[in-house]
Amino acid sequence: MNYAIANWKMNLPPEGIEPYMRMVSGRRRDHGTIVVAPPFPFLRDVAEQARGIEVAAQTCADQEKGAFTGEVAPSMIRYCGVGYVILGHSERRTLYGETDALIAKKLAVAIATGLTPVLCIGEDLRVRDSGQAGPHLAEQIHAVTQSIGNAPVIVAYEPIWAIGTGRNASGALCAETVGEVRSAIQRHWSRGDVPVLYGGSVTPENVQDLVTNGAIDGFLVGGASLDSARFLAIYDALAV
Ligand code: 13P
Repeated sequence: MNYAIANWKMNLPPEGIEPYMRMVSGRRRDHGTIVVAPPFPFLRDVAEQARGIEVAAQTCADQEKGAFTGEVAPSMIRYCGVGYVILGHSERRTLYGETDALIAKKLAVAIATGLTPVLCIGEDLRVRDSGQAGPHLAEQIHAVTQSIGNAPVIVAYEPIWAIGTGRNASGALCAETVGEVRSAIQRHWSRGDVPVLYGGSVTPENVQDLVTNGAIDGFLVGGASLDSARFLAIYDALAV
C-alpha cells in the first residue's frame, strides 16, 4: 500500500485549511492513501472535511490521561476523528529532546488507543558520513520493538540532512538505506508487512527518481505539502 502524507508542521494559516481540503479531499485512492497532518487545533476541522483521505496528528502524549499540562492524549486525538499519529519525528527528537525510550512509550499508548503510528527514523550527516547510517536506523527500530507487536504501523525514513534543506536523498541511496531498514524491521519486529516511506525535501521535481528507484511505499512530505497542487503532484507520481 502506498501513502502520501502531508506533514504541515506548524504551518498553514487557519484560512488556508478549507481551500486546501477542497483540493485534496475526495481524491480517488487507487494509487495510495492520502494522509494530512495538521497542528492539533485544526485536527477536528480537517477530519470533518476529509472525504476518502486520512488525518494524522503530529505527536501525542506518552500517557492516556492525568496531570500532564500541555499534552494531548491519543484518545483525544481519536475523538477528533483522526486515525494516524506521526511519532519520533527528528524535529521532536532534536528540538524537544524526545528519546527512543519516550517514543517507545508514545507508540505503546497510541497503538493501544487504535491510532496507526507513523514512526520516523533517520540519521544526521555525521552518522551518514561515518558509514553508520544502517546500524543507527536499526537501533532506532530495535528500541521500540516491545511497543509494536503486530499492530498496523508505518515507518518513515527521513534523513535529517535532507529535511528542509533542499537536498533530497537520491533514489539509489534511498533504495540502499530502505533495504537496511526493511531488514532491521524483519530482524527485530519479525514483520515483512510494514510500509516504509521516504521523507526529506521531496518535491514534484525530484519525486520521479525516488518513485522509480527508491524502493519505497510512498512519501512523508513537509514543505512541498503546504501547496495542495504540489502535494497532489507528488501523490500522482505514485501512480506509475
Ligand atoms: P521537508 O519535505 O520540508 O524536507 O520535510 C520533511 C519532513 O520532515 C516531513 O516530516
